[in-house]
Amino acid sequence: MEKKIMQEININGMKLKNRISMAPMYSKYASESGEVSDKLIEYFVRRAKNGVGLIILENTCIEWEQGRIFGNPVAIYDDRFLPGLNELVKAVHRYGTKIIPEIHHVGRQVFSDHINGKPPLAPSAVKSKVGGDMPKKMTEEEIISTIKAFGDAALRAKKAGFDGVELHGAHGYLIQEFISPLTNLRNDRWGGSFENRCRFAIEIIREIRTKVGEEFPLFFRFSAEESSPGGLTLEEGLKYAKVLESEGVDCLDVTHGNYESLKHFPMQGDSFDQLIYLSEAVKSEVSIPVIAVGSLGIKPEIANNVLEAKKADLVNIGRELLADSEFAKKVANDNFDEIRTCLRCNECTGSVDTGKYLACAVNPELGYEYKDLLKSRQKRKNIVVVGAGPAGLEYSITAAKLGHKVTILEKNDYIGGLVKIASIPNYKNTEFSGLLNYYMTMIKRLGINLNLSIKATAEIIEEYSPDLAVLAVGSKAVKLPIKGNQYSEIAVEKLLDNGQGLGEDICVIGGSGVGIDIAMFLREKNKNVKILEMQAEIGGELSPMLSTHLKEVVKANNIEVLTSHLVKEIKENSVIVEHNGQEKEINCDNILSAVGFKNLDTTGLEKSLKDKDIEVQTLSVENGCGHIMDATRNGFWSALELD
Ligand SMILES: Cc1cc2nc3c(=O)[nH]c(=O)nc-3n(C[C@H](O)[C@H](O)[C@H](O)COP(=O)(O)O)c2cc1C
Ligand code: SF4
Repeated sequence: MEKKIMQEININGMKLKNRISMAPMYSKYASESGEVSDKLIEYFVRRAKNGVGLIILENTCIEWEQGRIFGNPVAIYDDRFLPGLNELVKAVHRYGTKIIPEIHHVGRQVFSDHINGKPPLAPSAVKSKVGGDMPKKMTEEEIISTIKAFGDAALRAKKAGFDGVELHGAHGYLIQEFISPLTNLRNDRWGGSFENRCRFAIEIIREIRTKVGEEFPLFFRFSAEESSPGGLTLEEGLKYAKVLESEGVDCLDVTHGNYESLKHFPMQGDSFDQLIYLSEAVKSEVSIPVIAVGSLGIKPEIANNVLEAKKADLVNIGRELLADSEFAKKVANDNFDEIRTCLRCNECTGSVDTGKYLACAVNPELGYEYKDLLKSRQKRKNIVVVGAGPAGLEYSITAAKLGHKVTILEKNDYIGGLVKIASIPNYKNTEFSGLLNYYMTMIKRLGINLNLSIKATAEIIEEYSPDLAVLAVGSKAVKLPIKGNQYSEIAVEKLLDNGQGLGEDICVIGGSGVGIDIAMFLREKNKNVKILEMQAEIGGELSPMLSTHLKEVVKANNIEVLTSHLVKEIKENSVIVEHNGQEKEINCDNILSAVGFKNLDTTGLEKSLKDKDIEVQTLSVENGCGHIMDATRNGFWSALELD
């Protein structure tokens, strides 16, 4: 029987070929002034070509001066954007995929210097705690003109050929600010009672209906619960859902929260269906289709079960469709092992939030679809890759896709390097073992010759008669160069040996991602753990969202974190630390070192290979252990240099 996720659905005349919807995600792929670009079109075409039923375009700007999110979202506030928007629609339609824009006004969640120095607009002058300057309370005229701008944008969407339109009423932006008692303190007709707080959304819906008619599908994305003190409760969220349905909305796209609660991106350690209670609750109140969201691509069987159990009618897939553009096709064909699993690391949001293009830690091709980089090369080279960490693996897979013959030599008896190590703690095992599984599947599918437990020498490499040897040997964990460091053990080694021989009280030196991983792993074994970190924060090298999230995870797991603690000396069963100019001794059974890595030296091997007239390319990442994003990019772009 056909999986529910692949079944058709009809939403007010919009016939979708399956129930996989690509969630709206701000990409910064539009031009500086918001025009559709080739980069944007080809990014979506790749997902459409590979079977996504519906694409919901990112927060699409209805008013540039004060309404846009920081930077350069796609714009729909003027007719001059019609040609570009129409190009996008036509390109996606070629593959039978439907597309709707998510029309958006940012409200108070923006800084003035991101919107030309003007104050943000909001129903009331209530400042966001995390993402914006003090907003200006909107006047009646400003409210009316914003309602009109939403209506004009919807009409423009229709003229551009979109299949419908979605209102962005979620995540703490303007429309949500009107319904939320936290941000709407007005006592005129736009605030106060529930009915008055609904008015802004209702007037927008009516304005849109007047302009586009009843037949044009209208979706509404909203946070059914805000989870901020004083904010929208689920009880009111459900009342709101019924109002939206009665006003003629055709589909409710259910999400969660605002910038302050930030639970709408489930991350490492979160469950894979943690937002489903929201779509389920909404679905029990309305009869129009409901979309669910929240990590549903990481385990597609969960997405399908959500639909089978009637907890939603469609699933919004966000980050997994960044990590793997072929996700929908692979789900359709039951090729689950081939799905490149998203790590829920939020490097993608980190890129956009720091003013860069949308990028992904595991998919270096993201955003470069328009360059069609993976065309087969003329000459088939014979390549030996030394090292099966993420850089070596990405290099090998890319080179094999380009048509080259690839042999991997790996000294360990496993692939993945630090990806393997990151897969050991339970809290992120699904993501990282999913990625390892993908690598292994691709190695087999592409006919890459994998040799484990081989320490590569020039002589061994020569036996393969390669045209090119690629050294991707990675890095080695180091200890602090301080007195007593012989009493500490390397954290990654303890992860690999399952923590053998460790006592009950453990000090982990270093609060980077690896330090957090070993601490979580030890807590899973019920050890008492302290992280000693010299910086003021832990997880500083991770994406801002992930590090904020992991601090909460660490706290919830009763791991003691001592920041601004400089380790001065290590003893057999204690650590001497300095904090605020005072020294103190912390007793423990074991001391594990998670203080960093250094690149393994390849100069000897490079020289021996050159002496044998073998061409060599070395892939190294600065600072020993680069981010997985640096490693995969390095592997990918280096392989593309092959002619
Ligand atoms: C890089 C990025 C940008 C996003 N931008 C938007 C946006 O423009 N509008 C929106 O409603 N949600 C946005 N989201 C949230 C997603 O639509 C989605 O709700 C969230 O990623 C959870 O789904 P997932 O777990 O499948 O990724 C964004 C998410 C990401 C990762
Ligand atoms: S950057 Fe990380 S969270 Fe974002 S899509 Fe890629 S793997 Fe997933």
